[in-house]
Amino acid sequence: MQIGLFYGSTTCYTEMAAEKIQQIIGEDTVTLFNIKDEPLSKAEQFDFIIFGISTWDFGELQEDWESHWDDIDSVNLSGKTIALFGMGDQQGYGQWFQDALGMLHDKIAPQSVTFLGYWPNTADYEFEASKALTEDKRHFVGLALDEDSQYDKSDERIATWIEQIMTEYSEQL
Ligand SMILES: Cc1cc2nc3c(=O)[nH]c(=O)nc-3n(C[C@H](O)[C@H](O)[C@H](O)COP(=O)(O)O)c2cc1C
Repeated sequence: MQIGLFYGSTTCYTEMAAEKIQQIIGEDTVTLFNIKDEPLSKAEQFDFIIFGISTWDFGELQEDWESHWDDIDSVNLSGKTIALFGMGDQQGYGQWFQDALGMLHDKIAPQSVTFLGYWPNTADYEFEASKALTEDKRHFVGLALDEDSQYDKSDERIATWIEQIMTEYSEQL
């Protein structure tokens, strides 16, 4: 199995999380792509893709995702297995917590993809609103990380989420 992990990161927090995910799953399995430098079309080479995105400026996309937003429509993601993770700050931006994660999910969802890694532990966060919640509000649409307000929880969250996506992936085979 080969996983392509594509991320955009302004102040490196999403990038550091991407590197941790790569270390835990294995460098032979996960290839990292910073979308600032690499075209999103490279995602077509992988059956299993992880996308990482941070939220900026009161519910807006991270700048590299914003620059390449229209490219997503021309990448053929049909049939792919996709897991998402987001970076945000629930204390500083609780009205827009992880909004970009939700926007990315909704952008990709119309293509026939299989999402893995919906994150169930919403009670472990304190925020007012988020576009990254599922309709029943019981999950985030991907792993929600917060290096500003809950940095001490990130390592465990990443490890737990990787176990989750690997289990879900093997179950769908
Ligand atoms: C000016 C500014 C605006 C931000 N806006 C949001 C926001 O609307 N929602 C949110 O969840 N986090 C917000 N954040 C927090 C960032 O997502 C967080 O700092 C993240 O770790 C940045 O990740 P990156 O360095 O990978 O881009 C904001 C941070 C800054 C500095």
